[in-house]
Amino acid sequence: MPKFLPTLARWSRLCVALAGIALLAGCDYNFWQMDGHQSTIVVDGPVAREQLKVFYVTVWVTSVIFVLVGGALAYATLKFRARNEAEEHAAPPEQSHGNPLVELSLIGASVLALVIIAVPTLRAIWYTYDIPEADKANAYEVTAVGYQWWFKFEYPAEQAAVDANSKTPLISANELVIPAGRPVQVHLRTVDVIHSFWVPKLAGKVDMIPNRANHLWLQADKPGYYWGQCAEYCGDSHAVMRFRVIALAPDEFNQWLEQQLQTARTVEASAADASRPKPQFAALRSFGQNEAGVTEQFDIAPLESWRAKQEPERNEDPALIARGRELFAAKTCNTCHTVRGHAAAGILGPDLTHVGSRSTIAGGLLENNREQLHRWISNPAAVKPGNKMGKAYVDNRITMTPEEETAIVAYLESLK
Ligand code: CUA
Repeated sequence: MPKFLPTLARWSRLCVALAGIALLAGCDYNFWQMDGHQSTIVVDGPVAREQLKVFYVTVWVTSVIFVLVGGALAYATLKFRARNEAEEHAAPPEQSHGNPLVELSLIGASVLALVIIAVPTLRAIWYTYDIPEADKANAYEVTAVGYQWWFKFEYPAEQAAVDANSKTPLISANELVIPAGRPVQVHLRTVDVIHSFWVPKLAGKVDMIPNRANHLWLQADKPGYYWGQCAEYCGDSHAVMRFRVIALAPDEFNQWLEQQLQTARTVEASAADASRPKPQFAALRSFGQNEAGVTEQFDIAPLESWRAKQEPERNEDPALIARGRELFAAKTCNTCHTVRGHAAAGILGPDLTHVGSRSTIAGGLLENNREQLHRWISNPAAVKPGNKMGKAYVDNRITMTPEEETAIVAYLESLK
C-alpha cells in the first residue's frame, strides 16, 4: 500500500466532518443570525448592549493582534524556510537580540491595546452597575431569590393580602414579569447555595450569594419573552434551573399585577363556565425535542402563548377541579406550596396561586401544559434529579392514582 494513503484517509475524514458541521450550521437559521433564545449577540436592552460593545471592542483589538502576529509568523515561516537539502542542514544564521526600537514599540503597542480595551470596559462596569441617576425615579423594583433549582420573584411594591389582616409582597415563581421600557432593579438573594442570575438578551450574570446583598439592573426595550438561566453550578439540576422574563407594555403590566394580586381562583363544583373563548396556542404548531425529551413549544410566538395562558380554559370540569383542590390538601401539597385563599401556605416550594397563568413549570424546564404537568407531578425526581418534591414523595409516602393525578392537574390548570 502506498505510504501516503493513511494520511489521505485521515484528511478525507476531517474534510467530511468539517463539511458536515458546515452543512448543519448552514441549515440552522439561528446559527447565522446568532439570535438563539439566549443570544448575547442579538440583544434587547441597554445593559446587554453595553456589555456587547465591550465584547466587540475586545474582539476587534485581539483580531488586529492576531492578524499582525499571525502575518509575521507566516511571513517568517515562508521566507526563511529550507528550500533544499543543503539549506536544511546549514548552520543557523547569526542571532541578534536587543533591538530597543522593536522592544519599545512592542511595549507601546501592548499598552495601547490595553487602554483601548480598558476605557470602554470601565465605562460599561460603571454603567451596568447601577441605574443611571436620571432614570432612578422611573425604576421598578423586584427581588429574585435562588432556590435549588428554581427562582422565586417578589414584587415588594405590590402587597397581596394573605388573609383579611396580613399582607405580603406579591410572590411568583420562575417567570419574572416586568414593565417594558423601564429600568428594573433586581435584588439578588439565595436561600441555599450560590446561584447566578442571567438573562442573556437583557443583562449579564450576577451571582446570588448567601448572606450577601447583590443586585443588577436590566431593561427590555420592548415587550418580549426572554429566556434566563442559572449560570453558576449549584448541584444536580443546575443545568435545568431556568426562568423567563416577560416584558409587557405599561397597561398590560398593570393588568397582570391586578390579576396576580387576586387570591386563587376558586372553581365551584356546581358552576359550569363554558362561555369563555378557548385560547389559541399559536406556538403549538411546531416544537422540537431537546436532548432530555423536553418540548420547546414556545419557539414561534412565546409572548402570544404566554398571553393565552392568562385566559381560563374553556372546557374545564368544575367537579374535577374541586376534587383536585381537596386532593391538593389531602396529599399535603399545601405544606410546601402557597395558594393564597385556598388554605395553602407552604414556603418550601414555588407559590402556586396563579400557576395556571405561567407558560412554564418545574423551574422553567417544562412547558406548562396538561401532558407536562402529569409528567412532572407523577415523578418529579425523574424530570429534575435531586429536587425536594421528589424527595418529599418518598419521605411522606405520597402516591397518586391516575385519577387523582388528573384531578390535581385540572386544579393546577384552573389557577389562573
Ligand atoms: Cu442555580 Cu445553577
